[in-house]
Amino acid sequence: MELYELTRPVFFVGFMGAGKTSVSRKLARTFGLAAVDMDTYIERREGRKVKEIFAQAGEEGFRDIEQEVLVELSQKDPLLVSCGGGVIKRKENRETLKEAGFVIHLRITADEAKSRIGDLSTRPLFSDIENARDLAESRMPLYDEVADVAIDTAGRGVSAIAYEVRDVLEKAGVLCRQQK
Ligand code: S3P
Repeated sequence: MELYELTRPVFFVGFMGAGKTSVSRKLARTFGLAAVDMDTYIERREGRKVKEIFAQAGEEGFRDIEQEVLVELSQKDPLLVSCGGGVIKRKENRETLKEAGFVIHLRITADEAKSRIGDLSTRPLFSDIENARDLAESRMPLYDEVADVAIDTAGRGVSAIAYEVRDVLEKAGVLCRQQK
């Protein structure tokens, strides 16, 4: 198998349910790259679920942890990082994303996201569709502000999206064949 490497960290951003984790995992498997899901990383580090952190420390408590973890991950050897949907809320995070990595916005509407997410109770901020629509609308400009590239995901499968991402990363010189 041909080996690939990343020259910079790649951050997937976008609304809940956009497929950030699935696309990142698919790329990791196909190209032998390391991938980390920020929420999973946070849950392991904290020893509790995102839902519990929200319930116990509030959204700001969760955002403080998320900000620390983003800096931590951006300093590691380049990885594929699927970010939580709210990572773009803080200005500090938007700067970290832009400075440290190559950022891909996977676009999705709140209505499509709802049909993709299996268990909505794991997403404390996806309480009802009206709320999710407002949240998605207010965040779209922030996703686009940090993104080097935006990719539409509506009605598309994980593989098709992953191959488009692969092309984008190769063209940008972020995904390269490993030099022997
Ligand atoms: C959030 C999205 C979630 C998780 C937390 C907050 C948000 O991640 O970080 O529930 O504010 O949009 P996913 O985008 O992976 O669902």
